Amino acid sequence: MSAAKTVSIPNPRLNEVFDRLRTTLGKFIRENRISHEEYRSAVAFLTQVGQKNEVSLLFDVFLEVMVDEVDNNGRPGTITTIEGPFYVPDAPLMKSPCVLPHRPVEPGPVLFFSGTVRSLSGDTLGGAVVDLWQSDAQGCYSHFDILRVEAPYNLRARVVADDNGKFDVETRKPGPYEIPKAGPTGALLAAMGRHAWRPAHLHMKVECQGYRTLTTQLFMKNDPWIDSDVVVGAVKRALIVDPVGHDPAEMPQKNMPEPYYTLSYDFVLEPSIAETA
Ligand code: DHB
Ligand code: FE
Repeated sequence: MSAAKTVSIPNPRLNEVFDRLRTTLGKFIRENRISHEEYRSAVAFLTQVGQKNEVSLLFDVFLEVMVDEVDNNGRPGTITTIEGPFYVPDAPLMKSPCVLPHRPVEPGPVLFFSGTVRSLSGDTLGGAVVDLWQSDAQGCYSHFDILRVEAPYNLRARVVADDNGKFDVETRKPGPYEIPKAGPTGALLAAMGRHAWRPAHLHMKVECQGYRTLTTQLFMKNDPWIDSDVVVGAVKRALIVDPVGHDPAEMPQKNMPEPYYTLSYDFVLEPSIAETA
């Protein structure tokens, strides 16, 4: 009996999946007659991706849609989509109604975003947490882009719904987002002649004890990129929303100096696996 045979495999799933990945890539290399030069450029490209901190960006643009599909297709709650590379945990915890953290002069029109969190049977989920993040009106995310130091947690918060599962937040209408052109992911898209835009969107994780956490996005209907997201497959019909524009004179009590928007969207959570088992 050799020692090797008695060694237990620390991670059988990794062992199995890694072998299959190698087989799949081997097939790809043979079928596409990948040359040594092309192999070296791929290695150099991935080295750049790591050095420029774009691993999540690259993977999330091209692969996360498929992972979301495997995890969530056919589930009964609100439709999901990718998390993307810009989620930051532990954003400020705020009770609804609230105003998302923002700079003294925050560009773009105000957006009042509200809704109710419910279970599959329609019960309202008091105390559910809607963890929100988004770009500003110019397509910049706090903690990334230019806002890392200047405005931490800008337009990010974990909003606690009231006892009736209702959340009500004041934020800004997000602008379309363009993947940075200076880095390797942008260079790859440019080399393939593809644009690097995502339609304007709001991100959220909706959480409640005993329920499966829902990760999704809401996309602005009239955005020029709504039909051509660089993240192919991330936009789903049920996630396209059309905020209603309002004249300030309509609601003088809100004391709004500029036109503003309202958006209402409800979320449905399914029980967590432990609850259904
Ligand atoms: C990606 C996702 C986003 O939500 C975003 O704003 C930018 C990039 C991505 O999938 O890489
Ligand atoms: Fe995003």
